[in-house]
Amino acid sequence: MLKIRPIQNHELNQITQIEFESFTDPYPKDLFQFLAKKSPELFLVAVEEGKEEKEILGYAVADVERHVPYLNGHILSIAVGKQYRRRGIGNQLLSELIRLFKSKECNSIVLEVRESNLKAKALYQNLGFIEVKRRSRYYEDGEDAIVMTLDLEDAL
Ligand SMILES: CC(C)(COP(=O)(O)OP(=O)(O)OC[C@H]1O[C@@H](n2cnc3c(N)ncnc32)[C@H](O)[C@@H]1OP(=O)(O)O)[C@@H](O)C(=O)NCCC(=O)NCCS
Repeated sequence: MLKIRPIQNHELNQITQIEFESFTDPYPKDLFQFLAKKSPELFLVAVEEGKEEKEILGYAVADVERHVPYLNGHILSIAVGKQYRRRGIGNQLLSELIRLFKSKECNSIVLEVRESNLKAKALYQNLGFIEVKRRSRYYEDGEDAIVMTLDLEDAL
């Protein structure tokens, strides 16, 4: 069975590996180190329960930003190891982040996604996110980002 839990420091290398195989413009390990220290409860990993939990199947990392009077959850990165995709892991990681943001009384959740990333957009839409704006040439290669949000006051 799948288990979603906060990251442990020794798992940062595996996270970086999944990040590098998943993105053309990956976040560096330093940034993950910083985020894991800042808010470990918002840095989630998916592992197979019951075993030694050595292999990380996927992860999701987020932050909480205060824009007075609002509190926004910001999803910074989510990826699942290539061989483990399409098994519901991304959905479970995101669902757990949504639960955590609700428990922190966030008003909404925001994320950026490449315009061409239809799989990720479908994942977010399934969980109620809607497209709200475009950030022109947001990525290094010139692609636009679509900003998606989930209003937690409206969420089921
Ligand atoms: C996007 C990603 C995290 C999805 O993870 P996953 O574990 O494969 O996703 P799930 O199995 O939970 O699928 C959830 C939903 O996502 C969508 N989806 C996922 N993979 C898809 C695919 N290959 N084709 C179409 N839709 C897909 C579907 O809507 C799916 O729901 P369904 O199975 O009921 O149709 C994964 O593909 C990934 O790591 N991609 C590379 C990194 C990335 O793009 N991250 C997002 C950055 S914004």
